[in-house]
Amino acid sequence: MPISFNESDKVFHLQGKTFSYCLMLHPEQGLLNLYWGSRLPDGEITYLINSFWGLASFDLGANRFPTELPTRGTGYYGTPAVCALNAQGNDLTKLTYVSHAIVPGKRRLEGLPAVYTEADSEATTLVITLKDALTGLTVEAEYTVLEDLDALTRSLRLTNGGAERLTLTHMQSASAPLYGDDYELINLNGAWARERQVVRTPLGRANTRVESQRGASGHEQNPFIALVKKDTTEQAGSAWAMALVYSGSFLATAEVNNFYNTRMSIGLNPEVCRWQLDPGASFQTPEAILVYSAEGLNGMSHRFHRIIRTRVARGYWRDKVRPVLINNWEATYFGFNEELILNIARAAKEIGVELFVLDDGWFGKRDRDNCSLGDWVVDRRKLPGGIEGVARKVNELGLRFGLWFEPEMISPDSDLYRAHPDWCLHVDGRSRTEARQQLILDLSRKEVQDYVIEAVSSVLRSAPISYVKWDMNRNMTEYFSGDQTPDRQMETQHRYILGLYRVLEEITSAFPEVLFEGCSGGGGRFDAGFLYYMPQFWTSDDTDPVERLGIQYGTSFVYPPATMGAHVSASPNHQTGRATSIKMRADVALGGNFGFELDLNKLTQEEIEACRKAVETVKAVRGTLQQGEFTRLESPFEGNFAAWQFVGNEGRDVVLCAYQRLVAPNPGCHRVFMTGLCPDARYRDAESGQVFSGAALMHAGLPLRPIRSDFGSWIFRFERV
Ligand code: DGJ
Repeated sequence: MPISFNESDKVFHLQGKTFSYCLMLHPEQGLLNLYWGSRLPDGEITYLINSFWGLASFDLGANRFPTELPTRGTGYYGTPAVCALNAQGNDLTKLTYVSHAIVPGKRRLEGLPAVYTEADSEATTLVITLKDALTGLTVEAEYTVLEDLDALTRSLRLTNGGAERLTLTHMQSASAPLYGDDYELINLNGAWARERQVVRTPLGRANTRVESQRGASGHEQNPFIALVKKDTTEQAGSAWAMALVYSGSFLATAEVNNFYNTRMSIGLNPEVCRWQLDPGASFQTPEAILVYSAEGLNGMSHRFHRIIRTRVARGYWRDKVRPVLINNWEATYFGFNEELILNIARAAKEIGVELFVLDDGWFGKRDRDNCSLGDWVVDRRKLPGGIEGVARKVNELGLRFGLWFEPEMISPDSDLYRAHPDWCLHVDGRSRTEARQQLILDLSRKEVQDYVIEAVSSVLRSAPISYVKWDMNRNMTEYFSGDQTPDRQMETQHRYILGLYRVLEEITSAFPEVLFEGCSGGGGRFDAGFLYYMPQFWTSDDTDPVERLGIQYGTSFVYPPATMGAHVSASPNHQTGRATSIKMRADVALGGNFGFELDLNKLTQEEIEACRKAVETVKAVRGTLQQGEFTRLESPFEGNFAAWQFVGNEGRDVVLCAYQRLVAPNPGCHRVFMTGLCPDARYRDAESGQVFSGAALMHAGLPLRPIRSDFGSWIFRFERV
């Protein structure tokens, strides 16, 4: 049984395949978290209590004991898990145990994305109910163990059972104490065009915040943190990690207290979210996914990949191989017409591409990025036959057709803005800050949500559209709503995200066979919340393969390759100006959902042949690339080489990808050491026919024939024989 309760010592034992999470109802200290780590057998764990009494201390128990749900006014001085201001103007909250229930299956979270199950037997859920006697605030802490996926989910449901309004100021979806302070924090930091760089920092004697206040999870930080030991590597050692299934502002913390113990937490960002909870009302926090790995960072990522690919992502495309696409953005930007589009599509068909995507610029009068967002009506100057006309012509060439939208935005120069100037996020009397010359529609308003649903749906109904790229190109500034009373203005960011989720749910379920890909100025909202609605995301606007090594490597800490859009673009690269070979560009793009982002008509015949070959390879191995197990082998953040592998088809098909940044003189021969293969099995290299034992590939390594140029790559395909 993945969750048990021992009545005599009052311990809840949550067990995944390899982890345990032990909670205790302590008569004086309340709900404690005694342990989270490698799986323990059932049995005595309460002896750990003695280790928290310590010597005489200035501090109260709440700061010394491993409280599971820290609140204010208890003597706990870190980031509270729950905090509610009451009508008396204080935020004292003392939660005491009321009841608990252990039930099969997992509840869906109303209006929010969350891990789901397909059968109750996949999960067991524990709900512990606690209450503050004076205010009537009830907290239902919900834990679900997904035993086979070896992960835990956690969220809170907060209900006002009192007679007066409460203001929720802190709502951390998960907050877990860990023993000791010898941890290093890993977060995924970045900016536009350099998303999710892996940053690893020893915890100091100060609290650390990883956060977004942008109204989107954002380019700058990803809603994920991991704590690891100093000796944790990709292949070995412990990692405790949390990822939030949410697309808006968030806060993750790592705090070391004055007893040298650590707490990590993740949830909504209190800087930009406060919620008024009226008597009788409830508030559901987003869900956090918690993963513990004793098998290093790859063990952590394997667990995130499995759960995100199979139980966060949903729908028709979840388990299907994804089409090889070509997108016209970097080929034409806004300057296209039907003929140009069809020329690109024709050339793409010849090398085996399956889907053509028409990017920004097809609607309104959008010749630049300064107008027309909101006016989702085709520009007949560019496309005289409308979207239907161009889609049909693309179909006749033998390609499916996809279309770009940026539905959450409004240009001040648009018919929509002229008709509804109050539909954007704004504050009356203040200027409306434009970014990329656009404002954000106020999706906290139902009428605005309805407009977006209908505007996008009517285009999708009007033509044979098989794919949608859903873009979002700025963050929030005036994140307030003309539709709310002053006391609820600080709810706007979260209400926006709830509105967005309603829009996404309605549109994606009305067009179940359309493949949706998220995008936000590249990968600015690449999070598990978005992946619940759209199974893939544009990883970055930076398509320089050398930069992409780091971006894709970092993204893979949480998100599986099947979620990452990765395209071959022109050389020199439009973002960095770096020139690279077509082989390097294709070999890096093979690490995600493969596509092109250039005008193939401008390539040499030799380059076209290389593209044709790359498409052939992708088609032959995409089952393994998209559904196999992905493992990082060498980090581009640490050396001149990068490498990763995919193992699919129950271990029978293996793809190894290795890359070199700069050529070195007289370099010697670099070897890559694979992992997770069957030591006694034999693997045949598809190109050379050479056969290797799994043990040799893992322990003796595979030599890489030196490449005498910068930015080189090696791809090996092995078949188990
Ligand atoms: C940002 C995206 O990341 C790009 O791929 C492209 O779609 C542009 N927006 C279009 O404006």
